[in-house]
Amino acid sequence: MLKNKSVLLGVTGGVAAYKTIDLTRRLTENGASVTVVMTDAAKNFVTPLSLEIASGNKVYTDLFGSPMAHIDLPARSDILVIAPATANIIAKIANGISDDLLSTCILSFRGKMIIAPSMNWRMYENPAVQNNLKTLMDRGVIRVGPEKGALACGEEGMGRMSDVRDIIRAIEFQFAEKDLLNERILVTAGPTREYLDPVRFLSNRSSGKMGYAIAEAALKRGAEVTLISGFSPLQRPGGIKFISADTSLDMFHAVLRELRLSTVLIMSAAVSDFMPAEKSDNKIGKSGEFLLRLKPAPDILSEIGRMEKRPFIIGFSAETGKKIGNAKKKLREKNMDMIVFNDITEEGSGFDTDTNKVVIIDKIKDTELPLLSKDEVADALLDRMAEIKA
Ligand SMILES: Cc1cc2nc3c(=O)[nH]c(=O)nc-3n(C[C@H](O)[C@H](O)[C@H](O)COP(=O)(O)O)c2cc1C
Repeated sequence: MLKNKSVLLGVTGGVAAYKTIDLTRRLTENGASVTVVMTDAAKNFVTPLSLEIASGNKVYTDLFGSPMAHIDLPARSDILVIAPATANIIAKIANGISDDLLSTCILSFRGKMIIAPSMNWRMYENPAVQNNLKTLMDRGVIRVGPEKGALACGEEGMGRMSDVRDIIRAIEFQFAEKDLLNERILVTAGPTREYLDPVRFLSNRSSGKMGYAIAEAALKRGAEVTLISGFSPLQRPGGIKFISADTSLDMFHAVLRELRLSTVLIMSAAVSDFMPAEKSDNKIGKSGEFLLRLKPAPDILSEIGRMEKRPFIIGFSAETGKKIGNAKKKLREKNMDMIVFNDITEEGSGFDTDTNKVVIIDKIKDTELPLLSKDEVADALLDRMAEIKA
């Protein structure tokens, strides 16, 4: 998504400045060309050399060192990102002050600007900082964070710079084509847990990666997104409505509740097919052989497929082996619009991987895709959905 995009990254003198090495590296890996401008204060926290190595580009620090850099760098950049943004630079932007290279670049830049404020919570709560931030927001500056959490000073509070991944997401969001503005997309992700007793459950190896990638891709493309997730170690994506659902029954109820307002349902959760026929209220003790009787878990897709007024439905069919016929049967029987088939025995495909090799099956055709990242699979299935719905 960031291929051929030029990011001008302003680094100011906050403790979070060291994180810009990671930010720069990730942006570069995503295809962006990153040019860093540092303030004098920032050099106390991270060296220009580190950022030069991470970006592969010259790092600028001095207004008079490279004459016209304050005009040329902004003019050839697609986006300006200030991370971390100190209270000082926020005040300078709000007041149009240009007394060093970065603040002068900011004044001459004409595109979208993203700031990631970072400071001690007392500084952050100061009315002067809040007023300056409001001025920036009113002018259309995009702000990411700060977050609440442990601060470098050893205190807890609001002021921590947002995660590097959230800053990248905000940058990508600016470049994404907003072709799903009219869609309200409900995505399910992750495994369900079916309890035998208060401490034991049946589950599966789903990580939630595919569903989270779909939710983020849909958000980037302008959709309103709700994500219903079973237990997952993944970080909750920002900017979406997030609902936790532990069991298949929880997921069923959450989907029914949210469905009314949705135009699309994407069921990528690995909902259990079975659940224990009885759940013990107490921990089951050790007593020799234990026979477990299972009953079918709620079949969410079948229930929704039967509804008279239903959204566009996309299901997933993870199979062991090339049993594409099973997926086609599910598509028909559960009255879905699309189903995404994958063979989890294939290399790089299936649970807890960052890639997937899928066939997108709909009522018109099968689209076999090569091994792709889950982000690319997410975009491909949203592309096909948009094509069918058009
Ligand atoms: C150890 C230390 C840590 C600092 N951390 C922050 C910070 O996280 N956020 C902030 O706004 N200012 C912080 N400051 C204050 C700024 O460095 C100071 O306001 C400086 O003038 C900012 O300059 P700049 O905005 O040009 O980079 C810190 C100062 C010191 C000495």
